[in-house]
Amino acid sequence: MAEATLDEIVALCKRRGFIFPSSEIYGGVGSTYDYGHYGVLLKNNVKAEWWRAMLQERDDIVAIDSAIIQHPKVWEASGHLDGFTDPLVQCLGECKRRFREDHLREAQLGAEDAEGEIRCPECGGELSEPRQFNLMFETHVGPVAEDGNVAYLRPETAQGIFINFKNVLQFARKKPPFGIAQIGKSFRNEITPGNFIFRTREFEQMEMEFFVPPDSAGEWHESWMEERMRWYTELGIRAGKLRLRPHGSDELSHYSSATSDVEYEFPMGFSELEGIANRGDFDLTQHAKFSNEKLEYVDSADGSRYVPHVIEPAAGVDRAMLAFMVDAYEVEEVEGRERTVLRLHPRLAPVKAAVLPLVNKDGQPEKAREIHHALRGLMATEFDTGGSIGKRYRRQDEIGTPWGITVDHQTMEDDTVTLRDRDSLEQSRIPVDDLVNELVGRLAQPWTSPKPTA
Ligand code: GAP
Repeated sequence: MAEATLDEIVALCKRRGFIFPSSEIYGGVGSTYDYGHYGVLLKNNVKAEWWRAMLQERDDIVAIDSAIIQHPKVWEASGHLDGFTDPLVQCLGECKRRFREDHLREAQLGAEDAEGEIRCPECGGELSEPRQFNLMFETHVGPVAEDGNVAYLRPETAQGIFINFKNVLQFARKKPPFGIAQIGKSFRNEITPGNFIFRTREFEQMEMEFFVPPDSAGEWHESWMEERMRWYTELGIRAGKLRLRPHGSDELSHYSSATSDVEYEFPMGFSELEGIANRGDFDLTQHAKFSNEKLEYVDSADGSRYVPHVIEPAAGVDRAMLAFMVDAYEVEEVEGRERTVLRLHPRLAPVKAAVLPLVNKDGQPEKAREIHHALRGLMATEFDTGGSIGKRYRRQDEIGTPWGITVDHQTMEDDTVTLRDRDSLEQSRIPVDDLVNELVGRLAQPWTSPKPTA
């Protein structure tokens, strides 16, 4: 069975209104995307599942929503002003394009730090010496652009958590081990964005900083690696397509003493979905130094004090969404006809059930609408009368709707409907009165992808 290509995913996203190139009527802006109706619903479901795992299913994590524009000192303290750079090379030949040196070394010589000559991948030209390029977007606060009012769009959501450590400690009445979680937009002026929504300049992150006593940091790091791998597999990603890759000492970020990436086998190969880092006490210590605030935990029982260490699972919403779509995409033949189906976990599916009258007469549309109205307060449902029933099923298969409810002539006689399963294509007859219980029950069931791992 062929795995999805990126072109197939891009085409499906455009065809079904998940994701569009941004500013398309003006010719687009490179690697920037707008999310359409089903894209918003899927993205919301990914974020809801993350919140569920962080907040609802635990008692030791609280939420925060910090500002995108923060005091510029935040980025001095965090090390981003000096250290958040990528090595940039420019083609000195025909095309004059710019590239990340480490990416070219990896592609042409097999490793990011391999010695040897690299050439422009576009025109074969010679390349300039590398220079460090800061990825933060700079702006000015207030009506006049002056040196004194420089600000940055946040390149990660994490710092908004560290600078609120004291507030949360005071108001959430938590003691280590405890976490603070946040979902929000981040911005990086990437030199080479690409692979659709995998690497863009504006993206969403789901980050959680877990504050622990220093001597338990190693244990918590292990535990969060396990936990995060479980999140992806429980939401249907095939285990054979996921791996955990520890960073070598030469690729660790400036704040990290150990990081492992959760990687998914995307069409372009295994690539990072999420980083799980042991940040030690780097961030709290730095912010304490730059702000002159004490950022530590004081045990009220014995008066002992320490700066907690931090374990950080940091994921990308857009990247997770891409992985869920790639993993779910399948083209198969059913009764001699090709069918494209997104086998998404029902909890992630943008629409849970489509209510379809078989014909547009005999009271069937009215009955179908009535069922749709009864269900839609509980889950996302769609009422669809456009085109043949086969065509409507195909449309729902492509957006990943797990269940089709068909109203037919029998419904009008005995108040039963046909319930069609997206994956098995099985159709069962069930009373309208049982629909709510049946669907709510199915949504609560564990789900595994029926797709084999190629
Ligand atoms: N606070 C730590 C941090 O930001 P990171 O590995 O740079 O770590 C975390 O980012 C996650 O954010 C990545 O694993 C990825 O999923 C997502 N991400 C990072 N840069 C991205 C980009 N340019 N486009 C889309 N997602 C990105």
